[in-house]
Amino acid sequence: MSQASDTIRRWREDPIAFVRECLKAEPDGWQADMLAAFPTHRRIGARASKGPGKTAVLSWMIWNFLVTRLHPKIACTSISGDNLSDGLWTELAKWQHNSPLLLSQFTWSKTRIVCKHHEETWWCSARNWSKGADSTQQADTLAGLHADNLMFVIDEVGSIPESVMVAAEAGLATGKDTKIVMAGNPTMTSGPLWRACTTDREQWHMTEITSDPDDPKRSSRVDVKWAKEQIERFGKENPWVLVNVFGRFRRRRSTPCSAPMTAPDRSSASARPAPTPTPPRSWASTWPASATTAR
Ligand SMILES: Nc1ncnc2c1ncn2[C@@H]1O[C@H](COP(=O)(O)OP(=O)(O)OP(=O)(O)O)[C@@H](O)[C@H]1O
Ligand SMILES: [Mg+2]
Repeated sequence: MSQASDTIRRWREDPIAFVRECLKAEPDGWQADMLAAFPTHRRIGARASKGPGKTAVLSWMIWNFLVTRLHPKIACTSISGDNLSDGLWTELAKWQHNSPLLLSQFTWSKTRIVCKHHEETWWCSARNWSKGADSTQQADTLAGLHADNLMFVIDEVGSIPESVMVAAEAGLATGKDTKIVMAGNPTMTSGPLWRACTTDREQWHMTEITSDPDDPKRSSRVDVKWAKEQIERFGKENPWVLVNVFGRFRRRRSTPCSAPMTAPDRSSASARPAPTPTPPRSWASTWPASATTAR
C-alpha cells in the first residue's frame, strides 16, 4: 500500500491529525472532541456560545469527508444564503488555502466545491431557500439526496426550521457512510438543536461550549473581557446573555433577547501557534487514485 493511501486511511480514522497535517490548524479542546467523534458517529452537533469556532470545525469535517471518502456528496445549509456564504463557505475557502493538496485537487466556487477529477460525483454544495419559502420549500433544501457517502451540514442550527432536519434525516435512510453534523447557538427552545439536546439526546454526539468567564473549560477564543461586559451590562439571566455568552437555552416562555446582536471582538482572543506543516509528499500526483486503495 502506498504512503498516500496509508495517510488517507489515517486521516479518515483520525480527523484531528488531518486538521493538523493537512489544514495546519490546532483544534481547541472541544473542537478536538467533535473531530474525535466524527469517524464513529452519524449525528454530531455543537451547542455553543457566540464565536468559539463552530463554523471552523464544520468546515474541517467537510474537508475531511471530501478527502477521505470516495465520491462523497455533501449538502450544506444555514439560516440564510448570506450567512452561509459569509460563514461556512468562507471558512471552507480559508482552510483550503492552507493546503497544497486541497488547492490542487478541489475547485472552490461560490456555491460548489468539486473534485477536479470527478466534478459530477464528488462535491459539496451550498444550499438555501428563498425568502418567503414555506416549510415544504425549506425542506426541499436538503431533500432528495442519496449516496453511499453522504453528509448534511447545518450551520446556525439553533434557528433552523424542523422541516429542514426532517429532510436531512431522510437522507440517512440509505447509503453506507451517512452523517448529519450541525452547530449553533441555542436560540430557540424548539427545533432540531433543542431536540438534539433534550428528547433526542441519545441519538446525538453533542458538544457544549460556553464563554462563561468563571468556567475553567470556557472557550479561550472568545474574549473574556467581552463576556464579562455583557454579563455586567445585561445580567446573568438575560436571555441574550444566556444564549450568546453561556451557550445555554433560555428558559421557556422568557422574554425575547433584549441586547443587540453584536459579534464579539476577536482581536484580543488568544492566538494559537500553528504546528509545523508536515504535508505528505507526492500528493498531487497520487490523489485521488490513492484514495481508492485506501479503503
Ligand atoms: N482552532 C482554531 N485555530 C485557528 N483559527 C480558528 C480556530 N477555530 C476557529 N478559528 C477561527 O476563529 C474565527 C471564528 O471562528 P468561527 O467563525 O468558526 O466561530 P463561530 O463559533 O462560528 O462564530 P459565530 O457564533 O459568530 O457564528 C474564524 O476566523 C475561524 O477560522
Ligand atoms: Mg459561525
